[in-house]
This record gives sequence, C-alpha cells and structure tokens, in this order.
Amino acid sequence: LDAREPLVREILELKKEKNAIILGHNYMTPDVYHGISDVVGDSLELARRSKESNADIILFNGVHFMAETAKILNPSRKVLIADLKAGCSLAESMTGEDVRQLRRQYPGVPIVSYINCTADVKTEVDIICTSANAVRIVESLDSDTVLVVPDGYLAQNIQKQTKKKIIPWPGKCMVHELYTEFDVDVARKSFPQAKIIAHPECKETVTAKVDFTGSTSQMGKYIRESGADQVLLMTECSMGDNLRAEFPKVSFISSCQTCPHMKKITLEKVRDALRDEKYEIELSDDTIKRARASLDRMLAVV
Ligand code: 13P
Ligand code: SF4
Repeated sequence: LDAREPLVREILELKKEKNAIILGHNYMTPDVYHGISDVVGDSLELARRSKESNADIILFNGVHFMAETAKILNPSRKVLIADLKAGCSLAESMTGEDVRQLRRQYPGVPIVSYINCTADVKTEVDIICTSANAVRIVESLDSDTVLVVPDGYLAQNIQKQTKKKIIPWPGKCMVHELYTEFDVDVARKSFPQAKIIAHPECKETVTAKVDFTGSTSQMGKYIRESGADQVLLMTECSMGDNLRAEFPKVSFISSCQTCPHMKKITLEKVRDALRDEKYEIELSDDTIKRARASLDRMLAVV
C-alpha cells in the first residue's frame, strides 16, 4: 500500500473538495477497499448506504448494476463509476423484454430479480433480492410459485430452502460457476480442518457440501462467529485479501477466482473519475420511478 499512498492522498483530497462519498464493494482490491472507501460492504449494505447519503457525489467502486442501483435509490445525487465497462455476466444475461416474455408465459406468477440485473430488468420485475436476503424475499410473497431471475444457481440455492416452487432463468456468474463439487471434495481432503465458505452464486452441488453459504458480508460474519482458524473461500480473490487484514490470526487458503469486471476499478481510474466527475450514471425519470418500486419493496421486507 505504501507505493499507492500519494494516489490515495490525492483521492482523499478530491473527495473532500467535491463533497463525495466513496462506496466500495467487498471485491475491490485492498488499496481501493482499505485505502479510500468511506463505506464497504455487500450489495444490500451498499444499496442502503447509497440511499441515505447526503453527499453531492456518490462514487461507486463496484460494478455497473451497483452504481445504477445507487442512482435509482438516490436520484438527486451525481453517481459516478470509474469504468463504465465494469459489467456483470448475470446482469448481461437478461433484458427487460425477456422479463415481459416471462410474464406472458407465466401470468400471475411473481418475479423476483437478483439485484445483479440492469435498471431495465428492475423496472419489469415485482421485487429485488440480494444474496443476503433471497430466501426471505421469496418467502414474503403470497404465491406458491415464484420466478427467480437471472441467476439460475441462486435459484437452485433458494429452492433448497423453501417449499415454494422456484422457476429459474439460466443466467450464471462467470466467476462462481467455475467452482465444482470436485473442488470441494479436494479441498476437504487437503484441508480437513478448514471451514469452506461459498457464495450462493455457486452451483447447488457445491453449496450442498460447504460449511457456510452467504453474501460477501455474511462470510466475514461467519468467520467471526464460528471462530474458524483456517478458511477456504470459494469466491472472488479480493474477498480473501480484504478479510486477511481483518482476521490476521486466521489462515486463508487460496482457492479464489478473479472477476474481470470488478478488477476494472483501479485507484488511477478512481482519481480520474473524481477529478473529471465521470462516468456519470444517467437514467430516465420513468426508469428510476419504476425500478425504484421493486427495490423499495425489497427494502420494506428486510
Ligand atoms: P454480494 O451482494 O454478496 O456482495 O454479491 C455481489 C456479487 O456480485 C457477488 O458476485
Ligand atoms: Fe457479476 Fe460474478 Fe463479477 Fe459478481 S463476481 S460482479 S456476479 S460476474
């Protein structure tokens, strides 16, 4: 971090000068995560914090759908993302038209979308969920059948925990889909003492064999509460790097996968974004109004 200090200082000065707040997802590299963030967390925590912010500028260090969510929840602020190409394979797997088609195919069946979706998809669905609250959101609906989009593996993981019939969409996270049941078996054999932790974007065959499945912030909470000495995380690489600093006594076994989208956010691009006030998230009033309804429904449940 030392070599990054002048850049970190420059960003912190710009932040003050511009009255900006910097939000950082748990998958940001340690220099962004520890060096410049006012708030760090999972998608749900960051959505909440962006809604409450009074700052003139919200700089969202994460991927595009997260910055869009901040704009939808707090439209009077200027919301910036340091690289517009920081996308998400899940968000890219579904369009608003796909949702309209599902409505025609399954009339009357409520549609829950994982927050990893475009603003357009958010305008069409009934309610949003995140990895931290997915089962509770599904359970809150007054219907025996529920469509869960766009993450097919999250849908599988929800299905294990509810009596409702879940109809999935075949979207996948390009990072978490790489983990296999075989990886868990090898990890168990090699590190029998380790707590194995996975994200619910992993296949159900993977989550069935691990010690804990949860959102990125719930992973940290589990490590704290379980008192684990050795941990193997089946998730994005920066998660382990950031938790290592928080839990210096825990031994983290490397088994990570990189999200190329999250890695597009660098300190240099963050400095440029704040200095030039780019790249601004812009959405029409109508999109904001309709997408906000599905997000507000989620926030009213949890
Ligand atoms: P969390 O909400 O658990 O942080 O997940 C976001 C994400 O994109 C995981 O791949
Ligand atoms: Fe999307 Fe997967 Fe990257 Fe998360 S890790 S932003 S779900 S591609």
